[in-house]
Amino acid sequence: VKITVYRNAHDLASALAEDVADRLSAKPTLVIGLPTGRTPLGFYREIVRLAREGRADFSRATTFNLDEFLGARPEHATSYRQYMERHFFGQINIDPGRVHVLDGGASDARVECERYEAAISEAGGIDVQILGIGSNGHIGFNEPAASLNARTHVARLRPETRRANAAMFGGDASRVPARALSMGMATILGARSIVLMAIGSGKARQVEGAIHGPLTTRLPASFLQIHTDVRVMLDRAAAARLRPGRRGTCAP
Ligand code: PGA
Repeated sequence: VKITVYRNAHDLASALAEDVADRLSAKPTLVIGLPTGRTPLGFYREIVRLAREGRADFSRATTFNLDEFLGARPEHATSYRQYMERHFFGQINIDPGRVHVLDGGASDARVECERYEAAISEAGGIDVQILGIGSNGHIGFNEPAASLNARTHVARLRPETRRANAAMFGGDASRVPARALSMGMATILGARSIVLMAIGSGKARQVEGAIHGPLTTRLPASFLQIHTDVRVMLDRAAAARLRPGRRGTCAP
């Protein structure tokens, strides 16, 4: 795991945008896994700016979003699909046919999950998966639990996750859907490279556990330790509990 700590969220966002632009230059048909939430907003702003300046060309790129609320049709104002249209897809030259977001309004959620897995395979797999981390350690909507799902599935959201998403629903956590569709752990870990970003002191404990702690389904991000190409991008507050030189937990 390669960890970089930035002075602030803006520096982190522009470094990630530059990194994605470089990857696109090297491989114009790049397949990118994308997150939603507050953390990636700065990144989307910066990569849109690079695209406008002609330094990031998405015309042949393919994207797959991590997750979507169950019941949220693509045209729903509170769907992640609309978040993505607003902050990213609507502002770049991407081919709509190469944009993939789980359809929260699909009549059969299981079929939708299978369709998504097949689409990722057909695209040749994900080259780079960009992730945020929940304040409970989730990645995608793989929530802390006694067991985790390998593949794209219907996830039950924990109360803290619904609270974290309440802003999109007029501040009312009870209006946040209780279930979502999400890539599974193997879907995420199947990406050829992974970038995890975290901003703010509210993520420090989970970042510490993800990097230094044991692998545990109680902190899904800890499984990133088994991947061979992971970059972790943090601001100072999110990195506050990391100790230089300290690696994973030693056996007792
Ligand atoms: P946040 O969500 O960026 O809104 O904190 C992160 C996540 O849940 O992955």
